[in-house]
Amino acid sequence: QSQLDAQAVSILNNNDRGGFTIPTARLYPYQWNWDSAFIALGLATIDRQRAWRELTMLIDGQTADGMIPSILFRNDNPDYFPGPSVWQTTASSLPTTGISQPPVLASMILTLVRRDQAEGLGQARLLFDAVLNWHRWYHRCRTPVGCPVVCTVHPWETGRDNSPDWALGLSSMQIDPDIGPYQRKDIEHADPSQRPSQEEYDKYLTIVKFGRDHNWDQATLTNQGPFLMADPGIHFILLRADRDLLELATLLHRFDAVPEIETWIETAIAGTDYLWNDRLKAFCARDVRSGQFANGFSNASPLCFYAGVGSEGQQRQTLDHLKRIRGLTKFGHPSWDPQAPRFDSQRYWCGPIWPQMNYLIATGLNEQGETELAARLRLDLRQLIELSGFYECFDPLTGSGCIGRDFSWTAALWLAWAS
Ligand code: DGY
Repeated sequence: QSQLDAQAVSILNNNDRGGFTIPTARLYPYQWNWDSAFIALGLATIDRQRAWRELTMLIDGQTADGMIPSILFRNDNPDYFPGPSVWQTTASSLPTTGISQPPVLASMILTLVRRDQAEGLGQARLLFDAVLNWHRWYHRCRTPVGCPVVCTVHPWETGRDNSPDWALGLSSMQIDPDIGPYQRKDIEHADPSQRPSQEEYDKYLTIVKFGRDHNWDQATLTNQGPFLMADPGIHFILLRADRDLLELATLLHRFDAVPEIETWIETAIAGTDYLWNDRLKAFCARDVRSGQFANGFSNASPLCFYAGVGSEGQQRQTLDHLKRIRGLTKFGHPSWDPQAPRFDSQRYWCGPIWPQMNYLIATGLNEQGETELAARLRLDLRQLIELSGFYECFDPLTGSGCIGRDFSWTAALWLAWAS
């Protein structure tokens, strides 16, 4: 076992809060949805029972209508804002946010099952209905009337909080003056120049206030809320997760669920062109109300390979972008195109490399036979961790670590993939 393996294990142990793992102390002191799914992959290399426990505890936060929220607040921690007293949700037995996160869970469950079918199938059987209900929630509650793809109502729901992708949707929003004075905590624990701007935070909180004022009625939030954009990240991740859920349904002999899941997959494949920005020749985020496209190649754009979708031409043009961008930075793949406006190599989702996104992109590339590019992304993550440590994300130009340190998903993906 190398020193970095030992360090990764100790990060996961230190971030354990009793059966679930926080992303990093102080900055993110609760259980986060997609973090936990990636963390389970790493935990499975050390203690498989603990990996399944992570996922079971995530499902504890599921709401009555099926949503698995982005954050489960099991206590009220003064280190984090906005906490449970701001969200004021009641739909789950735990205090939670009122929005979700990229649904990678089904895919991580299938990955665990493939590694250990004997035990994995029994565990997956216990989680299957919860995950099926969550996917139902996504298809029912996040598909606005007349829109061919699932959408998102909050940049935090996409996991790619301050990506320039969201500038369009945020620019058409007014800040609600009644969000009142508030104190950000994130900039006490991290360098403010690497975090979202104050205006972005005011708008994030404006959407939270809208949800709270409407008792977190999800149909109202989707159809009448202040922000509505289609996200290639959520679209491709959900399409892949639907395919993986279908495989789980077959493995578990849950044939009752098969026709419904197949319909979701067909609808998503048919809707994918909605996200194709022909000007940029890439899959891009899109403002649903104005129809306008975001104008940059993000690290969600190449997830078409992970979803197994896109025409031959679309895939070829996506590969061209990936190769072009790989030539511009020391490490790949940055969260935003260095040649696009608003690129900032250290500001959160405006440029830094994200370990979990490299993992998803490389998984898709490998499956499409682009093994050299995939191997490079893995090697890049390995080198970044060797150079800088287990950071939340990394500057693609210098390799320095950004924002949260001793970060759980970075440690987990080191153990499960990059090492
Ligand atoms: C944060 O607080 O920055 C989180 O990303 C929200 O989910």
